[in-house]
Amino acid sequence: MSDLKSLFLLDPQITFLNHGSFGACPKPVFEDYQNWQLLLEREPIQFITNTGIQFLNDSKKALSTFINCNTEDLIYMPNPTTALNTVIKNLDLKAGDEILTTNQEYGALDRTWDYYCGKVGAKYIHQKISLPLGSKEQFLAEFWSGLTSKTKIIFISQITSPTALIFPVKEICDRAKELGIMTIIDGAHTPAHIPLDLKDLDPDVFTGALHKWLLTPKGSAFLYVKKEWQHLMDPLIISWGYHAEFPSESQFQDYHQFNGTRDFSAYLTTPAALKFLDDHDWESRKKECRSLLKEYYPIVAKELESFVLCPLSDDYLGQICSIPIHAPNPIKLKQTLYEKYKIEIPVVTFSGETYLRISFQAYNGVKEIETLINVIRNIKKETSLLR
Ligand SMILES: Cc1ncc(COP(=O)(O)O)c(C=O)c1O
Repeated sequence: MSDLKSLFLLDPQITFLNHGSFGACPKPVFEDYQNWQLLLEREPIQFITNTGIQFLNDSKKALSTFINCNTEDLIYMPNPTTALNTVIKNLDLKAGDEILTTNQEYGALDRTWDYYCGKVGAKYIHQKISLPLGSKEQFLAEFWSGLTSKTKIIFISQITSPTALIFPVKEICDRAKELGIMTIIDGAHTPAHIPLDLKDLDPDVFTGALHKWLLTPKGSAFLYVKKEWQHLMDPLIISWGYHAEFPSESQFQDYHQFNGTRDFSAYLTTPAALKFLDDHDWESRKKECRSLLKEYYPIVAKELESFVLCPLSDDYLGQICSIPIHAPNPIKLKQTLYEKYKIEIPVVTFSGETYLRISFQAYNGVKEIETLINVIRNIKKETSLLR
């Protein structure tokens, strides 16, 4: 598998086990990106006001086919944080309203909810999910025990950031629909990582990053909002789409897609990224990554005198996994891994725990995981950074 690394721009000197944070862009997709930028600079007026918009629509169409939703229900956004700030700001939360979530959400979005809930006296309820995960039924029982008559919104990651677990969002969306509760799904890690079919999942709101597992350049994500909520979604930035001179059929599109002058070339690379995945038989590569992960997750955990966070099944694991570690100085550990051993891997401190998170992308192979294992042995032998 690791022969694929030469197709990426990653520094060959670095053992790169952190695809999950910001992704990595393959050379052909990055060239496509630069071609769009050249077109833009050659004829900025035509591109920004005319041809670029057509290319943007084509790109959106390709994306909506890939994730199975209506094109007009999607907006490109620079990242999931911007997408969800747009939504959360517009929710009209009231004092006493409750937002039910888990204790394993992404820190920036916990802060967003804290900020908007704090303004009005709404409550952001972090339902504790026990680790290691047991059965799906146990997860759902724990999650739903946080439900009260005041629950107005459910917010949950499809793949969590600190613990790298797949949560059963389909079951949660189905039950929430029965209960008439709005669902907001943080699918930052979902697109091109695990299957996504928005018509089947049917959430009220969903965001996904494209610069992670779909391999576009940085600064490309999307926001999906179900039609019935779109009229509530004011943009974070008011621009020409408000009282639009030439309104389209969708106020949602008009309001959000143009927020002042900027380079939207990253958004245009979705078709090239999808082609790259096709050309390189990514479905088979992903399968190989998942089986590598299932083989090595328990091995690395044992090396760290720790444990795996869930059953070794596609229901809970994609191409990323986290291991709780005993690290008295996580910052120094991360620094040592990178500076001394040239391994790029996140050491995540979250809720009083520290985790080592490993990403398995198609450019990673056994050799890199073996390197990690040897380095862990060295660090244990030579330092007190891992106990
Ligand atoms: C679960 C989750 N949500 C959201 C994000 C989005 O982060 P950003 O908006 O900074 O790209 C991430 C990034 O890693 C994440 O892991």
